Amino acid sequence: MRAGVLSVAFLSLGVGSVVGSAIDLALAKGHDILEAASQLIVSEPIPPSSPLLEIDESYFDVESGTKRKLCVLHPKGGEELDDDNFKAAFEHCGNGGIIRLPDANYTIGSPLTTELNNAILDVHGWISFSSDIDHWVAKRVPFEFQNLALAWIIKGTNYVLEGNGKGGIYGNGDVWYNWAKDEGNKYGRPMSFAISDSKNVVVRNWSVIQPQFWASIVIRSENVLYKNYYVNATQYNPEASGHFLNWLQNTDGCDTYKSHNVTFEDMVYQGGDDCLALKPNSSMIRARNVTCFGGTGIAFGSIGQYKGIVDYIDDVEFTDITLLPSSQHLMKNGLYFKSWMGYEIGTPPNGGGGGSGYGRDIKVDGVKMKDVIRPIYLQSDLTYLNDHRGEGHDTGLFHWSNISLSNISGTSALNRVVWLDCSKQTPCKDITFDHVKITPGKDDAPEIHYVCNNVVLGGGDGLDACHPSDSQKEGAEEVKG
Ligand SMILES: *[C@@H]1O[C@H](CO)[C@@H](O)[C@H](O)[C@H]1NC(C)=O
Ligand SMILES: *[C@@H]1O[C@H](CO)[C@@H](O)[C@H](O)[C@H]1NC(C)=O
Ligand SMILES: *[C@@H]1O[C@H](CO)[C@@H](O)[C@H](O)[C@H]1NC(C)=O
Ligand SMILES: *[C@@H]1O[C@H](CO)[C@@H](O)[C@H](O)[C@H]1NC(C)=O
Ligand SMILES: *[C@@H]1O[C@H](CO)[C@@H](O)[C@H](O)[C@H]1NC(C)=O
Ligand SMILES: *[C@@H]1O[C@H](CO)[C@@H](O)[C@H](O)[C@H]1NC(C)=O
Ligand SMILES: *[C@@H]1O[C@H](CO)[C@@H](O)[C@H](O)[C@H]1NC(C)=O
Ligand SMILES: *[C@@H]1O[C@H](CO)[C@@H](O)[C@H](O)[C@H]1NC(C)=O
Repeated sequence: MRAGVLSVAFLSLGVGSVVGSAIDLALAKGHDILEAASQLIVSEPIPPSSPLLEIDESYFDVESGTKRKLCVLHPKGGEELDDDNFKAAFEHCGNGGIIRLPDANYTIGSPLTTELNNAILDVHGWISFSSDIDHWVAKRVPFEFQNLALAWIIKGTNYVLEGNGKGGIYGNGDVWYNWAKDEGNKYGRPMSFAISDSKNVVVRNWSVIQPQFWASIVIRSENVLYKNYYVNATQYNPEASGHFLNWLQNTDGCDTYKSHNVTFEDMVYQGGDDCLALKPNSSMIRARNVTCFGGTGIAFGSIGQYKGIVDYIDDVEFTDITLLPSSQHLMKNGLYFKSWMGYEIGTPPNGGGGGSGYGRDIKVDGVKMKDVIRPIYLQSDLTYLNDHRGEGHDTGLFHWSNISLSNISGTSALNRVVWLDCSKQTPCKDITFDHVKITPGKDDAPEIHYVCNNVVLGGGDGLDACHPSDSQKEGAEEVKG
């Protein structure tokens, strides 16, 4: 807590005592105030404007039918930073209580880590991240994978982030999109919120508007449900028109990493990158009723980026997925399986390779798509270094198997429909198709409609026409704009 005045209003619900008072204690620690407050018999009502953090020790929570602590936080307003009071609210009520943010904007100026146990964060307004890029980069909290960064880390067990269908995070992404245009994974650009080292988490009716980078990630966590989750990254800079594939880069909806049992239900995404992405060591991942407008689709990966490391994606069931272009961004890929080349060039985030492992037991049933450039795409020689793209063809060490794709319909934007470019070194196995009916948007290169390299298809796998080809027409680099 920073030096200054903290106002605490303490409410007691005892018989015949209505109460409430603001005690202003300069330079005091939160728990001291609480102890002091509990000794006091107070008689004046809370002044409506002064207490920024009201604490009710015995609030009756109708939902749980129990009395628990309630912290109601109000913002300082204007450009003033709310970091200190925000953290204080978690300290007071993050263990067993409810933290309520009424409809207002709360400005957070630096990366922060908070903890919730048996607690609810009830947000009716917006947790808004300041736009001081230099400060955020200088204070950057590193994330181990790809040397990326995090803005807000939430840890704990049994907690809910409730956005009430009209609140959540406002990331001030515009400034980041301008700053990072044409540079993927630019150093220091932070993810809006991370569910980290957590268990039994619900993120509900929650929005992330203008995320700075990836809107969210689940790290080393299990039993996490995102229900009614909305992400929207929109580019407002007029200079961006015509360059829209690059300007909204890295605005992923949510990624999973070293996590088990994560579910996305009733999700809507608009942006310029992965709607959902499964990074190394994601298992038991579910998605139902997810609609993605623009970007690079549903990504299985990237994976296998770290030499000598064994990664996995295991046990995935996705159903009822809709993939559409947005007014700002094409839908570049539909279902995109992406593993790195088999040897290392450069270092992460944009270089690397040589990792192994497996992606298996993946079932995607029920996808509707419109004008997707590469509807079903498996790439096994990934690198983000433009000078080295395609070099590691056929060297990939990551093993894809037992992938079932069913009930997939709609249109592609160009000639490609199915493009499975598996590695000769590590061929794909057991990929099956059932009721896959995607109409190509163009017919001037029918030889690339269905391409299958190093995967046995033809016969019992549900796709009759699929043949090897090394054509790079409409390849990863050819499609611009
Ligand atoms: C929060 O900020 C946004 C954008 O600056 C503004 O449109 C909105 O009215 C503010 N909300 C409140 C409750 O002050
Ligand atoms: C929030 O989510 C719950 C459970 O998913 C749902 O019943 C409720 O209607 C939602 N509330 C709002 C305001 O969206
Ligand atoms: C998976 O997580 C959900 C909560 O999202 C929980 O209800 C369910 O029991 C978990 N399943 C397993 C097998 O752990
Ligand atoms: C995303 O936000 C933009 C700008 O407000 C809006 O035009 C667009 O409809 C939104 N997309 C979705 C899917 O809600
Ligand atoms: C799918 O999700 C959207 C967005 O949350 C929601 O409006 C719609 O009711 C959901 N559909 C079903 C069938 O649950
Ligand atoms: C993923 O799990 C494997 C097997 O347990 C382990 O060897 C590897 O280090 C893990 N990967 C990461 C990125 O932690
Ligand atoms: C293939 O994956 C499915 C889940 O999608 C699983 O039920 C099945 O057992 C797997 N098959 C094999 C042979 O492992
Ligand atoms: C495809 O959809 C139909 C109708 O909804 C369903 O009966 C069938 O099980 C689905 N196919 C697969 C392989 O899941």
